[in-house]
Amino acid sequence: MTTKRILFILSGLIACTLVLAQPKRPSIQYGPWIQNVTGDGFTVVFKTAEPSLAFVEVAPDDGSSMYNTERPQFYQTVAGRRVHGTMHRIRVSGLQPGTAYRYRIIGKTALDDSYAYGIVWGPEGNISGEISGIKTLDQSAPECRFSMVNDMHGHFGRFSGLTKSLKPSDLDFFVMNGDIVSYVNSIDTMMKYTFGPAKDLLKSVPSIYVRGNHESRGREFDKVPGLFDSPTGQFYYMFRQGPCAFLVLDGGEDKPDSSGEYFGTADFDAYRAAELEWLKQAVKDPAFTSARWRVALIHIPTISHVTPWYCQQWLCDNVLPVLNGAGVDLMLSGHHHRYIYVDPRQDGNQNDFPIIVNSNVDRLDFKADDKHLDVKVVDAHGKEIHAHSYSK
Ligand SMILES: [Fe+2]
Repeated sequence: MTTKRILFILSGLIACTLVLAQPKRPSIQYGPWIQNVTGDGFTVVFKTAEPSLAFVEVAPDDGSSMYNTERPQFYQTVAGRRVHGTMHRIRVSGLQPGTAYRYRIIGKTALDDSYAYGIVWGPEGNISGEISGIKTLDQSAPECRFSMVNDMHGHFGRFSGLTKSLKPSDLDFFVMNGDIVSYVNSIDTMMKYTFGPAKDLLKSVPSIYVRGNHESRGREFDKVPGLFDSPTGQFYYMFRQGPCAFLVLDGGEDKPDSSGEYFGTADFDAYRAAELEWLKQAVKDPAFTSARWRVALIHIPTISHVTPWYCQQWLCDNVLPVLNGAGVDLMLSGHHHRYIYVDPRQDGNQNDFPIIVNSNVDRLDFKADDKHLDVKVVDAHGKEIHAHSYSK
């Protein structure tokens, strides 16, 4: 082989190595999903495989090109400085109520951030594609529509089967009413099983997360709040959509704090007491009192006739009187892994409003306008198995 030939082969190998070593844009490992949708904004949450600096670009969903106009950009910051890492929670603000938007995520990898005065970035670019159809909430909308599942307990296929027929345009939001996973030893596993089964739906349809008792278990339970966002920053909050006001409540763990299952780590009595004080004020909020329909979303229902373990009875004794006094129209729950319907004030029940406990294998569809509130429960085959209608 001639020297010229050897040099030619060597130069080819060097070129290939340089191409392969070329830093790439960050890749999205989980998400994105939409949290804390309000009348004027929403939060985009996702995880990148590489430590990255990212921002969200937003445009009206009006058919115009995202590229030919300068679009507003939203950053994740801490006290004035943009944050780079693998978990991303970016708040988009300044939007109009009841309006459809598109967004895309632009990012670049931090190749070397060891030197405080010289971070080495990889190439920057669009890492999410263009995601359309996200709509802000609107208190004056004529109706409210959502679907709900609960107690999936890590059954990826069951969750995806129940949601595959849902169309983003038919939903204002999607409710996950607790125990979507059984414990959180790995936050990555929780992301996979919570946002993976309905990945395409949840990148444009906002998800409302109601914490279940199981999601406070496991080594990485303290990372769970980082996957979500809410108006209060807590797992309990109130929001409006159209004629409906929603109270999202968190019963915490289901057994006494002293229970052996918690190995001395539970402090839920104090947590629930603080939440109760918040609830007493929340139900006085004009946004709540002015709603045509008032709906409570809570994983553990306020019923005392079906296995009322410690927390469930505590909720009956403490939370239920507040909800009764606040004119709540309906409670939607899970936890019992079977369908239960509880009429108001029947058979000694103390609830002034109906309670629907959804099973762990069915989906609940909700629709309300000024005069009617309809709930349908459908099974895995899409067959309607329960229906309830209320009128005012
Ligand atoms: Fe549960």
